Amino acid sequence: MPGTLPLGDPVPADGSFPSAVREALDARADKPFGLYVHIPFCSVRCGYCDFNTYTAEDLGPGASRASYPDTLIAELELAARVLEAAGAPQRRLSTVFFGGGTPTLLPAEDLARILTRARELFGFVPGAEITTEANPDTVSPETAQILADAGFTRLSLGMQSAVPKVLQVLDRTHNPSNVPKAHAAARAAGLETSLDLIYGTPGESLEDWRVSLEAALSCAPDHVSAYSLIVEEGTAMAAKIRRGELPDIDPDDQADKYLLADEMLSAAGYDWYEVSNFATAETTRSRHNLNYWLDSDWWGAGPGAHSHLAGLRWWNVKHPAAYAQRLATGTSPGHGRELLDDEAVVLEHLMLRLRIREGLDVAEYNGLPQRARRGGEPITAKVLNQLVSDGLIEEQAAHASSSAPEGRAVLTLKGRLLADAVTRRLAP
Ligand SMILES: C[S@@+](CC[C@H](N)C(=O)[O-])C[C@H]1O[C@@H](n2cnc3c(N)ncnc32)[C@H](O)[C@@H]1O
Ligand code: SF4
Repeated sequence: MPGTLPLGDPVPADGSFPSAVREALDARADKPFGLYVHIPFCSVRCGYCDFNTYTAEDLGPGASRASYPDTLIAELELAARVLEAAGAPQRRLSTVFFGGGTPTLLPAEDLARILTRARELFGFVPGAEITTEANPDTVSPETAQILADAGFTRLSLGMQSAVPKVLQVLDRTHNPSNVPKAHAAARAAGLETSLDLIYGTPGESLEDWRVSLEAALSCAPDHVSAYSLIVEEGTAMAAKIRRGELPDIDPDDQADKYLLADEMLSAAGYDWYEVSNFATAETTRSRHNLNYWLDSDWWGAGPGAHSHLAGLRWWNVKHPAAYAQRLATGTSPGHGRELLDDEAVVLEHLMLRLRIREGLDVAEYNGLPQRARRGGEPITAKVLNQLVSDGLIEEQAAHASSSAPEGRAVLTLKGRLLADAVTRRLAP
């Protein structure tokens, strides 16, 4: 990508792209194109979460749940205008992901209306994957059916844990007995399913984690995400840990829990395809998330949402009131943007490919023009062999093959526990 913008350049009022991006769009016509729709509402804020989400009390004037669908639709219409003005080839959506916040806090009819407008504006490829996240307390059989009828194909439930004392430390208010009910409702409506779990919560024992995994598996979802708890700065949980009211995270305990997750999930027929994500088959992997990891393009709509198109990354204003105000005057809600420089492209390629099951194609990486321009040594067979002998990448994949003439770096189980360290060893 020629030229760079300084970090966080302002986005023009009409949202138009820099010329370098307009010129690059034709070559990306065949890459998947996704839409992320951010729904920034939650009934309470969980103590560990720093997502851009607002309870009814902290929303303030200037924005409301009731007016949000129209505001969001205004951004979709702006997106279609900006893409058309840039001369972008018509690209139908291959994935749509409603995340939050808690999308299902809006009436299912509102989610359906937003989805219908997205379909009218962009079109969907046949078999498009259309997901919504949901809180287990907010999915009834009726809700699930409205979502399925509107075209949603997949429901991702925030289960987190099945153990009440762990849910309490996480400040989760959902009733754990609603997880199997919501899951069954999604299934009955013909939706694919995914469950989100968190491990390593302060006070959670290995046995507690086993109970949560067993409860998740007893639902037989298509997909499981297992995230190690991250203590985000500025959250209520971080403050409690600082004050000594909760024990700090123990990385060894989290590693033991990852190993248990891998053991139980693989025994039940779930294969990892990204370090934290497991699916029953290739067809039940989250294609939307894979597109983030494979350098595809997506439009992120909603306050604070991030977008990426042909090396341009931009992000919207964070507060729903500021977001609504911009769109009410036909102004782009974009707050800042940057053209990824060579260093960022190379590092992201390395880090993201290493985390997925197919691993890093070494010939592809060595051949990246950004890597060549940036200088530094390509990855050699010697470097790969050293990682193999340290048990961090798979031996067979590291050998040259017809599909990967310089081999692939595919993490072993030990490598998955040390993915960041492997990235650092391979970084130029
Ligand atoms: C936007 S939330 C999901 C939907 C819904 N709001 C919910 O929590 O049920 C996406 C997922 O990110 C994960 N998550 C959020 N904050 C996290 C943190 N601090 N550490 C690890 N995982 C986190 C949770 O598993 C959560 O389900
Ligand atoms: S419900 Fe989900 S998005 Fe909302 S505060 Fe909790 S973890 Fe964050």
